[in-house]
Amino acid sequence: MADSKTTTAVADTNESQIAVHWKEEATYKPSAKFVAQANLTDPSVNERFAEKNFPQCFEEYADMLTWYKRWDKVLDTNDPPFWKWFVGGKINASYNCVDRNLEKYKNKAALICVGEPEDEDPVTITYQELYVRVNEFAALLRDFAGLKAGDRVTIHMPMVAELPITMLACARLGVIHSVVFGGFSGEACGLRAADSGSNVLIYMDGYYRSGKMIDHKAAAELAVAASEKEGQTIDKILVWRRHPGKYCSATPMVKGRDFFVDEILGNYRGKRVDPVPMDAEAPLFLMYTSGTTGKPKGCQHRTGGYLAYVTGTSKYIQDIHPTDVYWCMADIGWITGHSYIVYGPLALAATSVIYEGVPTYPDAGRVWRIAERLDVNIFHTSPTAIRMLRKAGPEEPKKYHYHFKHMTTVGEPIEPAVWQWYYHEVGKGEAVIVDTWWQTENGGFLCSTKPAIDQMKPGSAGPGVPGIYPVIYDEEGKEVPAGSGRAGNICIRNPWPGIFQTIWGDRERFVRQYYSKYTKNKQSKDWRDWPYFAADGAVLAKDGYFRILGRVDDVINVAGHRLGTKELESACLTVAEVAEAAVVPVVDEVKGRVPEIYIALKPGYAPTKEITDRVIATIETMIGKIARPRQVHIVPDMPKTRSGKIMRRVLAAISNTLDTGDITTLANPDIVEQIRQHVQGKEKVAVKEGPEDLKQFGKEE
Ligand code: WT7
Repeated sequence: MADSKTTTAVADTNESQIAVHWKEEATYKPSAKFVAQANLTDPSVNERFAEKNFPQCFEEYADMLTWYKRWDKVLDTNDPPFWKWFVGGKINASYNCVDRNLEKYKNKAALICVGEPEDEDPVTITYQELYVRVNEFAALLRDFAGLKAGDRVTIHMPMVAELPITMLACARLGVIHSVVFGGFSGEACGLRAADSGSNVLIYMDGYYRSGKMIDHKAAAELAVAASEKEGQTIDKILVWRRHPGKYCSATPMVKGRDFFVDEILGNYRGKRVDPVPMDAEAPLFLMYTSGTTGKPKGCQHRTGGYLAYVTGTSKYIQDIHPTDVYWCMADIGWITGHSYIVYGPLALAATSVIYEGVPTYPDAGRVWRIAERLDVNIFHTSPTAIRMLRKAGPEEPKKYHYHFKHMTTVGEPIEPAVWQWYYHEVGKGEAVIVDTWWQTENGGFLCSTKPAIDQMKPGSAGPGVPGIYPVIYDEEGKEVPAGSGRAGNICIRNPWPGIFQTIWGDRERFVRQYYSKYTKNKQSKDWRDWPYFAADGAVLAKDGYFRILGRVDDVINVAGHRLGTKELESACLTVAEVAEAAVVPVVDEVKGRVPEIYIALKPGYAPTKEITDRVIATIETMIGKIARPRQVHIVPDMPKTRSGKIMRRVLAAISNTLDTGDITTLANPDIVEQIRQHVQGKEKVAVKEGPEDLKQFGKEE
């Protein structure tokens, strides 16, 4: 419990009352050329998806799919907030992304896979070939690995064709896939495997990254050990090889447990597996993400609603046609890749590009060479990647003859200056841009402009996409009106088909984290009483455009990916000498935010570089390189409230050279100046105005 004085200080600066000043940006219109070919140009979409037509409006998306049996009910609200979509419907996601495209497009590229080594030619997989591979691997999963509908399987793989093939083979059988981002450590993979109850892991031996072959199979051993420690045994590991026939890992294969896929796949040549008709509500996959506690949560996504939502938004917001060459640079190990590399684009029979490596390898022109060679016309990436490419080679895009009609930015707020470079240099002034705001939990886009209908505004995501009714509430649950200039918590008033079903194995946490804050009546079966709380701060301009300011909880957005501060802190505490740890976000020119760590040692230990290095190494093995802190500060003590809580907001202020605010209520106010000098040096660094999420960080303490 914080003491009463601290609580008052918090109430005084309630986030909803903080005026947010920013310059209104000039808007841009989509070109006539774009509009002429776009999927969604009829402004009646606003009417069709208006609240009076909810939830039936979403049949427009479900009708884009092929169902074995049509649904009886669009939305069932009987067990709030566990909404059910397209109830009674039967569908298979693999069928919709593969089989149904054969009639018209069997000889068309489904996937074009670009390896990192530039002398390796891209590999094209047609829809017919994808059909063959998905069937054969599904047969192997069923007959060799013994997997059946409802089982979970954990997949830890890089960006190669075999990853979507594996996912679609699972979906064909109704097996629930849980893909863990390839850059996460083996230990992180093992914990997720245990939580999901997987006893089969699917790996690749290695992959190329920055010109080096990474030994990825090494992670599998750590995953097995971590899973075993949680009480979950891994019986089988299926290992794809980056170069079939040639093992790229130094880690021995364990007899009877590990199997090379290329060696056993021969037994399933030519096999066909009928897609299993699944209930619309059957889980399709789990995607783990960080939250406010140390334990990542498995977001459970449904089959019918999810597939309908990503297909509809891929068509209307991404403007995907079967004739397009679409390249999303995200990793398939994140939700963006699931929804907008695999499921959405393939359901629309597009050609989806998969790139294995680092965007700036071997040089700053690589991305644009790929775009030119494959004649990509839709491009999708994050502000971090845009900043990186801009920094590495602002003049590079000009040198290549590619033409994008459409570009996406996703994952973090984009600074107007970065947006301008994206628009003018990358898009050559020809491409429309959508800034799409959403989350792992959401399945698909929540806010974005409709590319041929709405104007673009740099730095603002835009209005809710069709059928999404966002609202900003203050701490008391009062609506913050448009144009007030005040920030608050962005919520979605209604359910939608892409929203996740629950947190795997934790219904209570699902309700608590996303719904209890603004539910007025827990007994109500009316969806209007259950706004979804996104844990993002936002401002709503007069024109109805939302500007997303960032997380209002203990989550740090690093390069568009979520890291829970508590997860990092738990990792630090496993280092024997560490007594206390606090993780704070620091502004980074390229990645948006990066974590910085403060630790206090147990009595009797002196600070050494060796301890610092061990803390970093521990984070890398327990979570992954993505969580690597910018710095680790060993401090004599943490700033604390009188009730003993660490004041993370004070540490965040020091790390970002911001004003530390009121520290008179601390139990040990003198420590603040000591820490400041330790971090910033003797001289007082000028205080600068900080971004909104940093003002919010650690507030509740
Ligand atoms: C958090 C969700 C699903 C997209 C990939 C990230 C931030 C996401 C935007 C945007 C400003 C954004 C939010 C959100 N975010 N998109 N267009 N503008 N912020 O998914 O890892 O679940 O992270 O990313 O803070 O809550 P995620």
